[in-house]
Order: sequence, then structure tokens, then C-alpha cells
Amino acid sequence: MLEVKNINQYYGSSHTLKNVSFTVPTGAVTTLLGRNGVGKTTLLNCLMGVLETTSGTIHINGSDVTGQPSYVRARQGVGYVPQGREIFARLTVEENLLMGLATKSKGALSDLPYEIFDMFPVLNEMLHRRGGDLSGGQQQQLAIGRALAMSPNILILDEPTEGIQPSIIKDIGNAIRLLAARGDMAILLVEQYYDFAKDLADHYIILQRGEVIKSGLGEDMDADNVRHYLSV
Ligand SMILES: Nc1ncnc2c1ncn2[C@@H]1O[C@H](COP(=O)(O)OP(=O)(O)O)[C@@H](O)[C@H]1O
Ligand SMILES: [Mg+2]
Repeated sequence: MLEVKNINQYYGSSHTLKNVSFTVPTGAVTTLLGRNGVGKTTLLNCLMGVLETTSGTIHINGSDVTGQPSYVRARQGVGYVPQGREIFARLTVEENLLMGLATKSKGALSDLPYEIFDMFPVLNEMLHRRGGDLSGGQQQQLAIGRALAMSPNILILDEPTEGIQPSIIKDIGNAIRLLAARGDMAILLVEQYYDFAKDLADHYIILQRGEVIKSGLGEDMDADNVRHYLSV
């Protein structure tokens, strides 16, 4: 599981994350919700070691990774699906997936967990197409497949439904549900799409202006009026 304690982060003099603390348990989906600009992506970049924090600690499966570089965190078993997908447009689907194995010495198709293709058959069908030729939704599936290449025990997704057509949103939702049900993965889902998040969430966290202002059980999201914190 993932444990974040009292994280603070600044862009110059701008205090972006303020004493952020939460836990993402294994075998469940924790959804982090908040409007544009509240600091969601900044927080994920701090978790991944892409951005530095000024204080606080980050533990992955019990070990302290605060101040450790990204590759150490990836090696601890963190899979990251960045906002906007960031797939390699000129590489094939297969090559993109193998990039997910980058921390291993040498990668082959047979090193990839087959579940990736069970979940997203389109990736198998389009293995030799270039990433840039895929639709936005297919690229999102590819980005998730790439994050699953190393069989992570923590999966972090940054707004995976953003700009994606409904049929693929459904496939992505089913995949997340399946991974959570397996019981060995902690999933942190960052979303602004309320219905999607509510459908999947075991736990929720609301971020507002860089602060965790509310958290609770997924089943209480309606009663707790979580939707209110997403509307403009
Ligand atoms: N590289 C950066 N340099 C300075 N400010 C940034 C940078 N990236 C994001 N910000 C600012 O930090 C705040 C949080 O941004 P972000 O984490 O992207 O929010 P979210 O993902 O919740 O939409 C915003 O006000 C944004 O303008
Ligand atoms: Mg963002």
C-alpha cells in the first residue's frame, strides 16, 4: 500500500500542496477528486519522484521512498498512467508496451503479463501499428497496458477518462474493477468524472486548493455530497 504523510510542495513561492496525508490500501480503489488546478497532478508527480517535496514522507509497501528517484519507486512496484497518456506516437504498440519493462534488462513480448491483452484485446490486434495511429481511447488503454507491464502492486491513474469515448470508458472501468478485485493491487484513481469515480471507489479523498478537505467511503459519496466539490 501507499502512505503519504504531511506532504508540502511549492512552485517557486506558490504553496501548491499543503500537509497532504492519506493512505491507499491494497485490494481497493481510492479515488482522488478535485477541480482543475487543485494540485492533483502535482501530487502524483510528487508520489512518482518527478517533483520534490519540501516536507513530509512517502512510504511504498512499508519502505520509505521520500527523496528517492523515480526509478526506485517504479522498482518498488508503482505503475503510473500520466494525464494525457504520454505514449510514444512513433513507436509501435508493442514497443510502447515494452517501454513499461524499462527497469528490466531486456524485454520481450512474452515478458508482458497476458492479462493486458485479456483486458484490452485491441492492443493485441494493433500490436504493430504506431501509437500515434490509435484513437485517444485506444491510446489510454495502451498507457494502462504499459503501466501494467511490470505487474505493479500500486497503480496510479491520472484522469483516465478525460476526452475518451463512452464505450472505452466502460472497458477501462471494468479493467480497474477486475484489478481491484484480484486483491493484490492498491489503486489510486484521480478523476473529475463523478459517476465513473463513484462506480469504482471503495474510498474517496477530496482535494481543494492543495488540501485534503474531506475523505470517506465510496458508498457514502452521494450522501456526503461529493459531487458538489467537483461542480464549477
Ligand atoms: N510546472 C509548474 N510550474 C508552476 N505552476 C504549476 C506547474 N504545474 C502546475 N502548476 C500550477 O499548480 C496548480 C496545480 O496544478 P495541477 O497539479 O496540474 O492541478 P490538477 O491536476 O488538479 O488540475 C495550478 O495552479 C497550476 O497552474
Ligand atoms: Mg491534472
